[in-house]
Amino acid sequence: MGLDGKAGIDLTRLPAHVGCVMDGNGRWAQRRGLPRTEGHAAGEEALLDTVEGALELGIRWLTVYAFSTENWRRPPDEVRYLMGFNESLLQRRRDELHERGVRIRFAGRRDWRVPRRLLRHMDDAMATTERNRRMTLVIAFNYGGRAEIVDAVRRMVAEGVPASRVDERAIRSRLYLPDVPDPDLVIRTSGEFRISNFLLWELAYSELVFTDTLWPDFRREDLFDAVREYQSRDRRFGGVERVGHR
Ligand code: IPE
Ligand code: IPE
Ligand code: MG
Repeated sequence: MGLDGKAGIDLTRLPAHVGCVMDGNGRWAQRRGLPRTEGHAAGEEALLDTVEGALELGIRWLTVYAFSTENWRRPPDEVRYLMGFNESLLQRRRDELHERGVRIRFAGRRDWRVPRRLLRHMDDAMATTERNRRMTLVIAFNYGGRAEIVDAVRRMVAEGVPASRVDERAIRSRLYLPDVPDPDLVIRTSGEFRISNFLLWELAYSELVFTDTLWPDFRREDLFDAVREYQSRDRRFGGVERVGHR
């Protein structure tokens, strides 16, 4: 990293939408002899600094994976902690994000397992920030890529869409946030090389960047590194020639 963390980034070829699989909180805590939940708490600073970095660059869309449809398999204490933690994070950070011009939205299932109080804070955060346009922060919460496709198909069937009308547009328009552009860049931390059910439909042509950094240690400089890596890639979208970047 140089003196200017943004050095070498071409601001005319930024990813419009960056996705983050915020992984490695548990291991970060375990390495320090702390309970896993301390790792989640430490992830808050990583998230806020990443948002700052995205604002600094001028990235318009940022989606972060906060809780998956599979994370309910964790011990009840950890699940309970994560529900309370996300509620308090929204409560504590909402106004600050609002002042920064960030619009907060959510992707995922609003099912009975999500505590009602948390749903209320989610609605509050959305309502407070809905007119902001500097950047949209999508929090994927109780989100699963397969569940999202299942929910879209269910809606199509419920609406009586005939088979001849089922195409990519019909499915895409029924995803949770159909107006959000597909992610150009998806970052996964903690040295795991997998997607873990994140944005399955949307990441068909995303550039994937994997880093060993554990999420609580992730900072805007790591985002800048990932953007530089993204800009060195050759995107072809199935064609022959380099399409370049949006
Ligand atoms: C990611 O960190 C946070 C959530 C999935 C909520 P982990 O809790 O998965 O951390 P590791 O992967 O066990 O280290
Ligand atoms: C993905 O991380 C989900 C989130 C970051 C919210 P996991 O830790 O749940 O994924 P796996 O279990 O390692 O695949
Ligand atoms: Mg994990």
